[in-house]
Amino acid sequence: MSDPEPIVIAIDGPSASGKSTNSKIIAARLGYVYVDTGAMYRTLAWHAQQSGIEVTNAESVEALCRDWPAELVRRGDSIWLEVDGYFPEQEIRSAEVSAVVSHVAQVPFVREWMKERQRSCVQFGNLVMEGRDITSNIFPDTPHKFYLDASAEVRQARRDADGVEENLAARDQRDSTRRAAPLKVVEDATVINNSGESPEETSARIIAMVQGG
Ligand code: CDP
Repeated sequence: MSDPEPIVIAIDGPSASGKSTNSKIIAARLGYVYVDTGAMYRTLAWHAQQSGIEVTNAESVEALCRDWPAELVRRGDSIWLEVDGYFPEQEIRSAEVSAVVSHVAQVPFVREWMKERQRSCVQFGNLVMEGRDITSNIFPDTPHKFYLDASAEVRQARRDADGVEENLAARDQRDSTRRAAPLKVVEDATVINNSGESPEETSARIIAMVQGG
């Protein structure tokens, strides 16, 4: 008998909606591999900054991405993109990267490049993958689709508590209005507003729904 298809739990939502916290808990509880696709876009944005190109120029970003020596690497139970064998774990969380990442992410070639790599993550096993277009574009056929949300005030407060200075509204606006694979709620996603809920409660709800069929 051939191996069953890997299971994919797809989680989308705006900034600071609890995607990473919940995805990590769910992946750990179920023994699945965790994939943070936002980190992949952040890694490209960091690389663009390092290279000194104009990050708001789509043609320059496309040219850079075409020749990008980045590879998917499994570290523990998560998957990251490494550039020349280096994963810029700290650097990708900087205010500078946060300020430009949504520009890089709206370039159509970049989205196709990412789609190919993100889909290929099933080679690592069952996945919890979080991002902006996982339910709509990367794994639209998975039955396990979730859209996390929280009020704008709660999300901004979470980001402030992380010590990162950023105006989330501008990035969310760019992510939701871009042409290529914008952030949106797909028809068959379960929307979970977790403003007044702990990550334990939210992730337990998601696990129960996944296991319930
Ligand atoms: O951590 P936070 O929720 O603020 O953002 P992130 O998940 O690290 O994603 C950073 C940025 O990458 C987003 O604002 C999007 O511009 C882009 N992104 C995307 O376009 N598609 C994805 N699947 C994931 C992230």
